[in-house]
Amino acid sequence: MIKIKKFNATDLEFRELSRIDNLVNHDSIDHPDDDKNSWEIRDKSLIRDRLLLYKDKTLIGVMYYSQGRAQNQRTTFFTLNIDPDYNIKEYRELLYNQMLKEIKIFDSNKILTSIYDHPNYDLVKEFLIDEKFKLVQTNREYSCDIRKVDIEKYQPLIKKLEFDGIRFYDSKQEMKAFPNHYQKLEELEWIYGQDFPIPDGIEHTRESFEQYMKYKMDYEKNSYGTEIVAVKDGIYIGSTDLSVFPKSEPHKAWTEGLGVLKQFRRKGIATALKIKAIEKLIDKGVREIRTDNEENNPMYKINVSLGFKPVPFSLDYMREI
Ligand SMILES: CC(C)(COP(=O)(O)OP(=O)(O)OC[C@H]1O[C@@H](n2cnc3c(N)ncnc32)[C@H](O)[C@@H]1OP(=O)(O)O)[C@@H](O)C(=O)NCCC(=O)NCCS
Repeated sequence: MIKIKKFNATDLEFRELSRIDNLVNHDSIDHPDDDKNSWEIRDKSLIRDRLLLYKDKTLIGVMYYSQGRAQNQRTTFFTLNIDPDYNIKEYRELLYNQMLKEIKIFDSNKILTSIYDHPNYDLVKEFLIDEKFKLVQTNREYSCDIRKVDIEKYQPLIKKLEFDGIRFYDSKQEMKAFPNHYQKLEELEWIYGQDFPIPDGIEHTRESFEQYMKYKMDYEKNSYGTEIVAVKDGIYIGSTDLSVFPKSEPHKAWTEGLGVLKQFRRKGIATALKIKAIEKLIDKGVREIRTDNEENNPMYKINVSLGFKPVPFSLDYMREI
């Protein structure tokens, strides 16, 4: 018998959800503990839930969905993952239609999802197109074997920046005692984060400082790869943060963000931040960095020149309801 059940956040459910996700993932591995943790620290002022599709007692699919923050409060972000042995239109529709009912509670008028341009997602892509979703953003995805990066080549650049008074620090290891460290870091990330390209119809929003700190402390405890901050005359002018998930993929880092204040761009600071991060990660035994950027973002030039190689693109689809 096919049935949709509500999510109760049990350990068994977290394990089963990772099992389903890992049947779909094409280049990442999910670990139930990381999902459980992210569930526990979620912003509880927003609606976030899961619908679980069972065939008798076996989980065969899941719909993850969450409400956007502030100006995006009527937008729903979702991910639909189905065991490839059961990925039929009827099951996709069951989960999708149930989600449409659930999100009426916050009067949602826009829904968005991301998939990869990889065969594992072809059926969901077909479903999205049938349901009149539009492709609203294409993102280049990259992987880099950081043992092959020519770090020496970039030392003159770093020396020049240091000569100009710019210093690079590891946030967790070296900056905790800096005055108002996290306030300054949050503000920096918010300023350059507004320049990250996002689909039309979605707004950049700023989370509360309290929620920012919750995520940051969790990051430092559970998934810290490295976070490098560029500082000039006490002003935080650029940063990058990368996550490593030791329980699933200890040798791989994921770029979370990178940016430089407008008035300091085109001086090589982003390049230097990447090199500093690579040095730290190599010391920790990391071998690969994954990253992505919107297809026209100049960041891709930096990635290519460092030796990042393209892997399947990610695709953002949106539909108004
Ligand atoms: C993208 C960004 C991080 C680049 O920072 P930066 O410190 O200016 O980058 P660099 O000086 O190291 O640039 C190195 C090279 O990248 C290319 N590049 C960087 N910015 C570029 C731009 N706006 N247009 C064209 N090429 C650019 C150039 O080839 C540049 O070398 P050059 O200046 O000698 O021509 C910065 O523009 C930024 O913060 N943007 C907003 C946030 C963002 O989009 N981050 C990336 C998200 S994935």
